[in-house]
Amino acid sequence: MSKIILITGASTGLGAATAKLLAPQNKIIVHYYSSEEAAEKVAKDIEESGGEAFLIQEDLTSEEACIRLVREVANRYSKLDILINNAGGLIRRQAAQELEWKLMLETFSLNTFSTMKISSLCIPLLKKGEDPNIINISSIAMRNGAPSATIYGACKGAIDSFTRGLAKELAPEIRVNAVAPGVIDTPFHEKVSTPEKMEKFKEITPIKRIGEAIHIAKTIKYLIENDFITGETIDVNGGLFMR
Ligand SMILES: NC(=O)c1ccc[n+]([C@@H]2O[C@H](COP(=O)([O-])OP(=O)(O)OC[C@H]3O[C@@H](n4cnc5c(N)ncnc54)[C@H](OP(=O)(O)O)[C@@H]3O)[C@@H](O)[C@H]2O)c1
Repeated sequence: MSKIILITGASTGLGAATAKLLAPQNKIIVHYYSSEEAAEKVAKDIEESGGEAFLIQEDLTSEEACIRLVREVANRYSKLDILINNAGGLIRRQAAQELEWKLMLETFSLNTFSTMKISSLCIPLLKKGEDPNIINISSIAMRNGAPSATIYGACKGAIDSFTRGLAKELAPEIRVNAVAPGVIDTPFHEKVSTPEKMEKFKEITPIKRIGEAIHIAKTIKYLIENDFITGETIDVNGGLFMR
């Protein structure tokens, strides 16, 4: 049966790969912020593989934008089956002794507050869905300790904790899970990781590779399909973090 799936930050990287993997027969709401051309390409790919695409543009760093996003979804569809809170990023690295309030606010707004607010706003739509579930994107940064990315690591740790709280509160109707990617080759790293840093990540990863967006997309698909998993965060990182 066709599913209605909202993916935030679906213009590039993990969101785009997930949109394409889930496209056949499904209705994908492709949210983007600044990468309009890339988002249109994702929409075209979705349509070509037999899905339906609906584009929505918003800067998700404010409550009003989250409200507008979900309102647009509700105006078009009477229900939602899957919400993937993926939009996010590190914004910039900062030394611990220089932490700025503004960067804390920006980082938490983009990654954490948008995840929390959009999840909350989508609950009525999800309750009308088929095996509804929410998938949040956390990060290895909240596991390992991330020097110069401490704000980002903390904001992803909050997403991990939010996932468990929400999973208990919304059970049994709505499942809530998260994926914590390791180092994955996407535009994310273009601004925040030098080629030398990427090489170092590769060296210290037991599998000796940087991950690809499809590795995360496949994990998201698995979480959608397995209806006995809730409150879980799956680490996908080539062994860079082991429990
Ligand atoms: N790549 C990694 O190694 C890695 C590791 C762990 C976790 N993650 C997480 O994975 C998620 C996806 O990242 P990615 O690796 O796929 O990077 P990416 O290619 O840079 O994708 C980031 C997505 O977030 C959207 N976005 C950025 N700023 C936004 C804003 N202000 N408002 C709304 N949307 C905004 C971007 O939209 P536009 O391009 O349209 O502006 C884009 O679609 C993020 O939550 C990231 O923290 C990534």
